[in-house]
Amino acid sequence: MKKLQRLSKRSCCYVATALVLTIVVGPAFAASLKSIMGDMGDNTTAAKAVLANFDSASAKQVLQHYASEARAASDMFTGQGSAKEKDLSARFKKLAAMADAASQAPQNKATFRSAFADVASECKSCHSIYK
Ligand code: HEC
Repeated sequence: MKKLQRLSKRSCCYVATALVLTIVVGPAFAASLKSIMGDMGDNTTAAKAVLANFDSASAKQVLQHYASEARAASDMFTGQGSAKEKDLSARFKKLAAMADAASQAPQNKATFRSAFADVASECKSCHSIYK
């Protein structure tokens, strides 16, 4: 009887630990995509400012920023099992490659406008499904 009591105390402990992990890790994970998205939103504000008042160094910087944020987001979902997570990872990877390639091309207002439109259409297409 004593042994049984000890056992059930321990399994109670496991349940409590699992609960704490779910509570602590779950929202932290969600918050982190949210925070990358917030950065992408800020970067979009910066992109619009560059379009209004073009300079090629800032244009390059904005595109590099999209690339590194998208890479970070893709990495968050890499190796995760669900179809949704795989799709999110692939979409962010595509966006990163696109922004990276655009950032390496010479920048003028027309090329930047076109690269920004391509990036924005990736944001929209993913949001229309998952946001
Ligand atoms: C591969 C999918 C995907 C792509 C690409 C994507 N997003 Fe998101 N975005 C999401 C998801 C999912 C959410 C909801 C996240 C949440 O609320 O936890 C979101 C939310 C947001 C939010 C709201 C954040 C908040 O605080 O609620 C902003 C702003 C945002 N995205 C901006 C962008 C911009 C700008 C781009 C393109 C440069 C972009 N996103 C590209 C999936 C994506």
